[in-house]
Amino acid sequence: MRLSRRTFLVGGGVAGLGLAGFAARSLLWRDSSPDLQALKIPPLLDARATSGEFSLRVQAGRTEFYPGRYSNTLGYNGSYLGPTIRVRRGDSVQVNVRNDLAETTTVHWHGLLIPGPLDGGPHQPIAPGQTWRPLLPIDQPAATLIYHAHVHGLTAEQVYRGLAGVFLIEDEEEQRLGLPNDYGMDDLPLVLQDRQFDDGLLVLPSGMMTLMQGRRGNVVLVNGTPNAVAQVPAGLVRLRIVNASNARVYDLSFEDRRSFHWIATEGGLLERPVQLRSIRVAPGQRAELLVDFSNRRPVGLLTAADPNAGMMGMMRGMGRDSITNLPFMLFEPVAVRGGRAASVPKLLVAQERVQPSAATRRRRLVLNMPMAGMMGRGMMNREVSGDGRGQAAPTAAPFTINGKPFDMRRVDERVRLGDTEVWEVSGEMMSHPIHIHGVHFEVLSRAGRAPQLLDQGLRDTVLVQEPAELLVKFTKRSAGAPFMYHCHILEHEDNGMMGQFTVE
Ligand code: C2O
Ligand code: CU
Ligand code: CU
Repeated sequence: MRLSRRTFLVGGGVAGLGLAGFAARSLLWRDSSPDLQALKIPPLLDARATSGEFSLRVQAGRTEFYPGRYSNTLGYNGSYLGPTIRVRRGDSVQVNVRNDLAETTTVHWHGLLIPGPLDGGPHQPIAPGQTWRPLLPIDQPAATLIYHAHVHGLTAEQVYRGLAGVFLIEDEEEQRLGLPNDYGMDDLPLVLQDRQFDDGLLVLPSGMMTLMQGRRGNVVLVNGTPNAVAQVPAGLVRLRIVNASNARVYDLSFEDRRSFHWIATEGGLLERPVQLRSIRVAPGQRAELLVDFSNRRPVGLLTAADPNAGMMGMMRGMGRDSITNLPFMLFEPVAVRGGRAASVPKLLVAQERVQPSAATRRRRLVLNMPMAGMMGRGMMNREVSGDGRGQAAPTAAPFTINGKPFDMRRVDERVRLGDTEVWEVSGEMMSHPIHIHGVHFEVLSRAGRAPQLLDQGLRDTVLVQEPAELLVKFTKRSAGAPFMYHCHILEHEDNGMMGQFTVE
């Protein structure tokens, strides 16, 4: 018998399970009577099931995060977040994106290796009422990607309000491994977003702290669900962690400190599973995990402190917040007949390694955050006006890369198609998640030493402060529309910590 989420969750859903039981067995759960909500699973849009074509409608709406409290939000084909798009390697997928907002947006396929004009970055704006129709050739291994708004100056706000979703690529190699892949049952997308709620309503934080450290919140939503509980089969379950937060870095572990297997990065499957007890996931990053729930005990998922907590001491409140070290979601294993035996493959996929000796050029990027200059201009006390819109204030371009704030008309780097290069990236003041469009890369070194365990695999986003050397292979043409590289703290990006490059 196959699991059906509907069977799980109808009839009062979680309420029928006895909340007291959860609270008693999950010792760290923050409250003796938490208002647990069944984890929302984004609807699946499988391109193969819709003859290779699908449509997204970007819309404004109202979302009931807490009972009876309706927040103004944005979403794709719904009021908050979007469907999970599933495509297959080798296919070409026709997408129609209609913008029903009153403002311009874009849809960026973060992690997809495609030519520049299809990328959905700042150079492919969709005006209100317009439809954008890219034909996406899927030409990379199975992986978990993310799609999100990327209109320059409004990326942070549009993503914060809900414009993000999951994009899955399947291929034959991955299917042959027999990993859990029953979407929404034993293969769950977990979109993590900390958001600020005030009396049950979503609010948009603003002000200088928000600008410096990025927008943060007091609640972790998982697929748009606060206090989420997921019923899972009592066996091996695949979790696809997607960090779609504006700024928060998660350091995830289970409250009982159980181990799990890490199987995939942004670029897809690792060569072999890595057993861990915690994993760090920065904004823009994804990680796939295999977790064994066969002991049938409910368990919470929590995050340790953000490594950027307490940056400069003046970033008050972080680390003593309502999120750190408290479970933000629960898993409730349920026995099912025919449930999957817990067996983790020893080997995943062979990777073709790019040799560092193939690199023909070295470039250096420094992500600048000139705090001293800002304080000198008295900006630390300045609140950004009213509802927090327009954080890209004309008086300030405090965030730069190599001293230059982003300029859509300036190409910062020119790369030759097919080349391999070493990009040495470092960040000032704090850890910054650097993301490069249109490529996969490997971490060669950190602070002059061998990369860390968690650096392995093909990446499109990594956290840097001390210089890291990235081995980048450029395989897709920019074809007239440059690719971006930027900090994935979206407030940094919107305010200038972004550059662009061509590949020709
Ligand atoms: Cu996920 Cu340029 O972004
Ligand atoms: Cu991207
Ligand atoms: Cu940054």
